[in-house]
Amino acid sequence: MRQLLLNKQLVPREFNKVARRYDFATYLSQGYQEDLDHSATLMGLSGSEQVLDLCCGTGKSTLACLQVLPHGTVTGVDNSAGMLEVADSKLQPEVAEGRVTLHLGDAMELDFPDASFDAVFMAYGLRNMPDYGRALEGISRVLRPGGVLCIHDYSLAPGWWARLYWAVLGYGFIVPFCTLLSGSADIYLYLIRSVLTFPSPQSIEQLCTQHGFTQATTHHHRSWRRPILHTIIARKG
Ligand SMILES: C[S@@+](CC[C@H](N)C(=O)[O-])C[C@H]1O[C@@H](n2cnc3c(N)ncnc32)[C@H](O)[C@@H]1O
Repeated sequence: MRQLLLNKQLVPREFNKVARRYDFATYLSQGYQEDLDHSATLMGLSGSEQVLDLCCGTGKSTLACLQVLPHGTVTGVDNSAGMLEVADSKLQPEVAEGRVTLHLGDAMELDFPDASFDAVFMAYGLRNMPDYGRALEGISRVLRPGGVLCIHDYSLAPGWWARLYWAVLGYGFIVPFCTLLSGSADIYLYLIRSVLTFPSPQSIEQLCTQHGFTQATTHHHRSWRRPILHTIIARKG
């Protein structure tokens, strides 16, 4: 695993290991679904759009998108077959109705046609990309002009307080607790480290504007994640 601390190519293998217990772990993480639901509302959709849920995992973010899309569709993409299997079994009715389609694929190599989505929702995904700029360029390509991008991720507020909060929470609680629960420490150690090295919300806004987006704004959450979780909303120019 000590390799995983730096190598994001190993991420899908690690998510495969914890896929079956992922929903239980996040269920215990108070407010996890509510924070996703809040970010989905921030996209300001009318309800009939085609949304790409990048790094959809076990489908919790897909459910958040569906909630704001009574007449729309969601395409979920993830590169962990194990996580997608859980999403597929959970979302059977929506898949059968054609409201949800799930694809095994890499968010860095999207093969959808240009401008095929009205919105892209990416929850806890961008941080796992080996090259943030290239990932944003790919997202921009598949978004229609004026389409909305929502990045929901652990990104630390400026200053020492949020870093200390995350380090204590991560190494003191998340890693020991989730390791006990899932039987694997690796992905949780990676989580703590990847957040400590991920850009601040303001830097993500700048990255968005450097890669074809306008009007990037940061939104906060009311939960205990307030110092560490932010949602960036941007529009394709
Ligand atoms: C922390 S989970 C988040 C899942 C879901 N979005 C949610 O909010 O619960 C991150 C997901 O990103 C996926 N992932 C990481 N890197 C990826 C990549 N390059 N392409 C596609 N999926 C990726 C992982 O397999 C994992 O399922």
